[in-house]
Amino acid sequence: MFSRLATQSAKRSVHPFVKPTVQARFASTKSAISSNPMQFGLVTAAIVGTTATAYMYADASANMADEGLHAPHYPWPHSGPLSTFDHAAIRRGYQVYREVCSACHSLDRIAWRNLVGVSHTEAEAKAMAEEFEYQDGPDDKGEMFARPGKLSDYMPQPYANEEAARAANAGALPPDLSLITKARHGGEDYVFSLLTGYVDAPGGIEVREGLNYNPYFPGGAIAMARVLFDGVVEYEDGTPATTSQMAKDVSTFLAWAAEPEHDDRKKMGMKAVIILTGLTAMSIWLKRFKWAPIKSRKIVYNPPK
Ligand code: HEC
Repeated sequence: MFSRLATQSAKRSVHPFVKPTVQARFASTKSAISSNPMQFGLVTAAIVGTTATAYMYADASANMADEGLHAPHYPWPHSGPLSTFDHAAIRRGYQVYREVCSACHSLDRIAWRNLVGVSHTEAEAKAMAEEFEYQDGPDDKGEMFARPGKLSDYMPQPYANEEAARAANAGALPPDLSLITKARHGGEDYVFSLLTGYVDAPGGIEVREGLNYNPYFPGGAIAMARVLFDGVVEYEDGTPATTSQMAKDVSTFLAWAAEPEHDDRKKMGMKAVIILTGLTAMSIWLKRFKWAPIKSRKIVYNPPK
């Protein structure tokens, strides 16, 4: 009798408003596994892991053609944590961009003034800007006029708009190169590999007319033809203008264009590491100094006699 009373009161206190039938259904459909969350977690992890691994391996062969050959990593002079860009290479790379790539590719985010102190002197950059005409205005009669470029102008674009660019390139749009090393997996490694990677299509692969085979380009067929050949530019510093030299220089230039703050960033980073290490060491010392009497004190309780 006591036990019956006890169960009834327990039921009432736990589920005062749930009907007994509902309770029974819960009880019968309760899965055994949920009573063991550890086991449930392990089974889930195993299923997810197996599926992911299978997906990775099943897809590996397809990736080559669909996503392009993975560019190898090249030892760029600027890739170390403390190394700056090779500025002579930026200057040569600008020449390659100007003489080759700028026929099709814009470089919207770089102004002439950005070159000053990086690859060119102020006078050189001014002279280069003045070779281009920019539209300005309106003047006091409300008319637009053309004037020579200034340091504050941005690099001129090869085409007036996207439609013109596509029309001139068989429907393909040459992308703006300002951020290309950030916008593509592999960065400057990819740009270098792409520029030097033109080969004959392997047997069995048909490349549509107007496209060119390049294993590094996702899909393998790119609308841009090979543009770098030994000697297309003549370097003023006497560096032999081989295909790979020009590809390396223009990739360095584009890496700089995507990250002009790169050298300063590393310098600031180094300063911050040095200063913060000093401050950390000092604060550790200070903490130990302040805590020394507290840690080494002896608390004595003298009970009243
Ligand atoms: C004759 C015009 C032309 C010239 C010159 C040219 N390109 Fe291109 N480029 C294109 C076109 C068109 C595309 C778009 C290709 C496509 O989408 O299939 C392209 C695409 C690219 C891409 C992007 C590839 C991608 O992953 O989407 C890069 C990087 C590139 N060009 C770099 C250069 C560099 C560097 C130079 C100079 C050395 C250069 N190009 C010269 C027409 C040109």
